[in-house]
Amino acid sequence: MGKILDGKELAQKLNVELKSEFNQLYKISKIKPKLATILVGEDPASQVYINIKRKVCAEVGIESIFIKQPATISKDELISTIRKLNHDDSIHGILLQIPLPDNLKPHTPTFINQISPLKDVDGLHPINKGRLFDNNEEYAPCTPKGIITLLEHYNVNLKGKFTVIINRSNLVGKPLIFLLLKRNATVAVCHTSTIDIEKFTKMADILVVAVGKPNFITKEKIKEGVIIIDVGVSRVNGKLCGDVNFDEVFEKCGMITPNPGGIGPLTVSFLMRNTFIAYQNKIKSNLVNE
Ligand SMILES: NC(=O)c1ccc[n+]([C@@H]2O[C@H](COP(=O)([O-])OP(=O)(O)OC[C@H]3O[C@@H](n4cnc5c(N)ncnc54)[C@H](OP(=O)(O)O)[C@@H]3O)[C@@H](O)[C@H]2O)c1
Repeated sequence: MGKILDGKELAQKLNVELKSEFNQLYKISKIKPKLATILVGEDPASQVYINIKRKVCAEVGIESIFIKQPATISKDELISTIRKLNHDDSIHGILLQIPLPDNLKPHTPTFINQISPLKDVDGLHPINKGRLFDNNEEYAPCTPKGIITLLEHYNVNLKGKFTVIINRSNLVGKPLIFLLLKRNATVAVCHTSTIDIEKFTKMADILVVAVGKPNFITKEKIKEGVIIIDVGVSRVNGKLCGDVNFDEVFEKCGMITPNPGGIGPLTVSFLMRNTFIAYQNKIKSNLVNE
């Protein structure tokens, strides 16, 4: 099916390439790549995501260490956990699984700001956000990197394309704006205060949807030939699904990601890629300091 943007297949290919890159760098450096994952509380979805990330770490050759903290952990204790990981030279990347439990959620930016920008594999530290603003994508967040890589893999020319993103979060919508602008797309961002979203979705050449609401995008809301990236994740009757009514829009759209099997695997793959970048940068800095 030429219409399907197969994120799962691309992620598998990228992970194989990454494994070989990790091997090569390990042979030279004799230093093992290590990612620290921090999970606070018992959120079942977060536990599933962490397990998937750790499984792919093992596949590509990253040693992952798992730090589980109770939801009752204090703000200071969590900051201290992060600082210890910053100072541990054997750790190359730090991932704080979000969302945090309700009691800590309002402090999320404080915790993210504590992560060393050099180990910030989620690309959420203000320094890395600033770099992205300046067109440096080295530590850009994983989901937007995955979206762009998937489009480029399928030779979608972004130049001049009217691209509508329904999402303005730090994780998806905001960083994606910069990656798209760098590639000369024209970008519109919609959110809950947008008046008449349909007006925008019907004009989109490329539509990125990340709202977390099943069937948010239906056939009437799109134009013929649009390329759809379905990022949202929901669970309906125990089954994962995206934001787009896939069966309904399939005939009308030009290309579409399946969901699951689209952006999810690429997000994980780019977490591995960002860990590789952090690992490589650390090895380079060791060489300079020798
Ligand atoms: N597949 C993956 O790898 C992956 C990665 C990241 C996220 N996700 C999924 O993507 C979704 C978004 O994640 P997130 O972390 O960005 O969540 P978020 O911070 O809650 O963002 C949701 C965005 O959708 C907008 N929105 C919600 N309902 C809307 C509506 N009725 N009309 C217009 N806009 C609406 C919100 O607008 P406001 O800003 O106005 O509230 C917000 O910008 C979730 O389902 C998440 O699970 C998937």
